[in-house]
Amino acid sequence: MAASELSAAAISDGLGTRLIGRKIVYFPCLSSTMAVAREEIRRGASDGTVVVADEQTVGRGRLSRGWLSPPGSVSLSVILRPDVSCLPYLIMLAAVAVAGAIEAVTGLKTQLKWPNDVLIGGRKVCGILVESEVSGGAADYAIMGIGINVNIRVADFAEIAPLATSLSDELGAGVSRLWLGRRLLVELDKLYRTLPHGEGILKKWRQRLMTLGRRVRVVSGDDVYEGVAESVDDDGSLLLRCDDGSRRRVLAGDVSISELGADNAA
Ligand code: BTN
Repeated sequence: MAASELSAAAISDGLGTRLIGRKIVYFPCLSSTMAVAREEIRRGASDGTVVVADEQTVGRGRLSRGWLSPPGSVSLSVILRPDVSCLPYLIMLAAVAVAGAIEAVTGLKTQLKWPNDVLIGGRKVCGILVESEVSGGAADYAIMGIGINVNIRVADFAEIAPLATSLSDELGAGVSRLWLGRRLLVELDKLYRTLPHGEGILKKWRQRLMTLGRRVRVVSGDDVYEGVAESVDDDGSLLLRCDDGSRRRVLAGDVSISELGADNAA
């Protein structure tokens, strides 16, 4: 197997971030960076520690789904100890940072789909999962997990092929995962420093959300709503104008955008 370009030393070298990436823990292969981040937290990992892997064998997605992370992906989790008031901003922050890093490193144009997908040309290129533990009204920790399809041929993976893309598929050439990962940590660090005032992040996220103004179908638990995605609330909830004229606030769910075809709830 060829040596990976990723290593703790290569990622850290001259990174220049203040908090995120002060410590990098790298694994060639692990179960899930979310699970390993929890172990690191139990061992007392400091704020801003990043767990990064070349490959995950049991990558986790939203809503108890799996997440495919073959070699060639970027899979990382950032350990944070934010104020509880910052928790709603972490998904937005991660999405904006990923979009900025992809655009800076590849020149590709990205779109954000509510609540936490980064797309290129309507296909999912990155997923974000934020988990946190709150006790007595305070956040003990948050783990921000980010998975990006970088150098993988999506056509080789039947389960994601219809809805996903990768940076190499889009560019027709490989992308340095090292430069992308480093740029991502820089973008995350820059945005994280603007907290606890999340208005700037909310504004950037809202501006990039391609979901707004579109006709959508939202599946939230057992409920399905159809209507126009009008806006997002300060906590990131989707504000939907339903077909019967009522307005509904959706906190979590999967969105399909009608113009992209019925089946794009990646
Ligand atoms: C989604 O369902 O869209 C979220 C996917 C999140 C995947 C990332 S990869 C790094 C981190 N480790 C995991 O097991 N999941 C997240």
